[in-house]
Amino acid sequence: MENETLTVVDNRTGREYSLPIVDGAIRAPDLRQIAGPDGEGLVSFDPAYLNTASCRSAITYIDGDAGILRYRGYPIEQVAEQAGFLETAYLILEGELPTDDELQRWTDDVRRHTYVHTNIEEFMAGFRYDAHPMGMLLGAVGALSTFYPDAKHISDPENRYLQRVRLIAKLPTIAAFIFRHNRGLPYVLPRNDLGYIGNYVNMTFEIGGRHEPNPVLQRALEILFILHADHEQNCSTSAVRGVGSSHVDPFSAVSAGIAALYGPLHGGANEAVLNMLDVIGDVKNVPAFVEAVKDGSAGTRLMGFGHRVYKSYDPRATLIKQVADSVFAETGVDPKLKIALELERIALEDDYFVSRKLYPNVDFYSGLIYKAMGYPADYFTVLFALGRLPGWIAQWEEMLNDPEQKIARPRQLYTGSAERPYVPLDRR
Ligand code: CMC
Repeated sequence: MENETLTVVDNRTGREYSLPIVDGAIRAPDLRQIAGPDGEGLVSFDPAYLNTASCRSAITYIDGDAGILRYRGYPIEQVAEQAGFLETAYLILEGELPTDDELQRWTDDVRRHTYVHTNIEEFMAGFRYDAHPMGMLLGAVGALSTFYPDAKHISDPENRYLQRVRLIAKLPTIAAFIFRHNRGLPYVLPRNDLGYIGNYVNMTFEIGGRHEPNPVLQRALEILFILHADHEQNCSTSAVRGVGSSHVDPFSAVSAGIAALYGPLHGGANEAVLNMLDVIGDVKNVPAFVEAVKDGSAGTRLMGFGHRVYKSYDPRATLIKQVADSVFAETGVDPKLKIALELERIALEDDYFVSRKLYPNVDFYSGLIYKAMGYPADYFTVLFALGRLPGWIAQWEEMLNDPEQKIARPRQLYTGSAERPYVPLDRR
């Protein structure tokens, strides 16, 4: 459109500029031509990228005000209800739903790569018995790059496919090893006769060669993985893209994503929710706790509430509540659920939370579900990572194939000292 421009008047110089608007955005480099009296070009300042698009992406669509989430155009509700996790991963990675043959091949490829080098087992044995599962996961995935040095050939699509398969196949094996390491249990190796989720659950919980699979819990876990599979430019995905933009191998880039996910404001929130429910202890303490959150004396935010993008509701949280019902019908209700429900009820009526558009997010109930399934709180974020993996890989490949992308390198506004002479040690 002809008038798709932004007219900017620089009041410092009186000069007028016309900046093109493309796809609802101006390009920050176009601001450089706007030079002040000192001759310095203008930069845009956007800590935490509140209003800066860092890429074009065709993977995930979110409308935060309307509570919409779509993978490659398909509504999350439909994908979660009807697809399997590997099918969702294929959709996210390839852009289309797989045909029967494509899904078969993809599933077989993943199945063939589930084993890890035995040195990984030895390497993992070096962690302390109480090592945090996320620290172990990011270390182990980073270490995978040393087992597959061919992964550095990132411009070869066939090679990228192989690393994609390796990552998706091996992460559940490593995650199960981590679970067992913390319990002093011997590792259980992958079984090719089981599906992706069934194999993972078996490697995690099998004791003495036996594990009775519960199809309801396995499907619930699969839905949780699907709900986490991608979420556009969140903190961990941006980390994968940013680190990957240096053209490092995908194992290193994904381990950066795992590190970002570890934090309590991101994937670590599901663990933090359970810890918070422990601190509250009883339904009767909920009102006082909410007040303490509001006046800052609780020393914490209301974990599992709020989202940078969703400002009406998180559609994943709605779906997760349904999953919770199916899981609790199998396992019995956790007493902490009552505290969580009361917390949600009070917060949704409280002007502090309503006015700031703070609603339960994906992590509010996921922890309670994982706990009911038998996972400890410090392991929850590992499950989030298993789900998010296809998104990280797809976004990494999209970044590599995007001719507009370069090594990530933000600008800064320098606030330090002006030039000053070095002072030798004996004169300080
Ligand atoms: N409890 C209490 N107050 C909150 C909360 C909360 N959970 N979240 C935001 N606020 C307040 C915040 O103090 C601020 O208030 P004021 O305007 O008076 O200063 C206002 O709401 C806006 O907060 P913000 O920090 O500018 O919002 P943000 O978009 O930068 O942060 C968030 C988003 C998810 C980091 C934040 O809501 C939060 O810390 N939530 C708790 C942690 C959590 O549940 N994280 C999981 C997010 S979803 C899954 C994922 O990403 O992994």
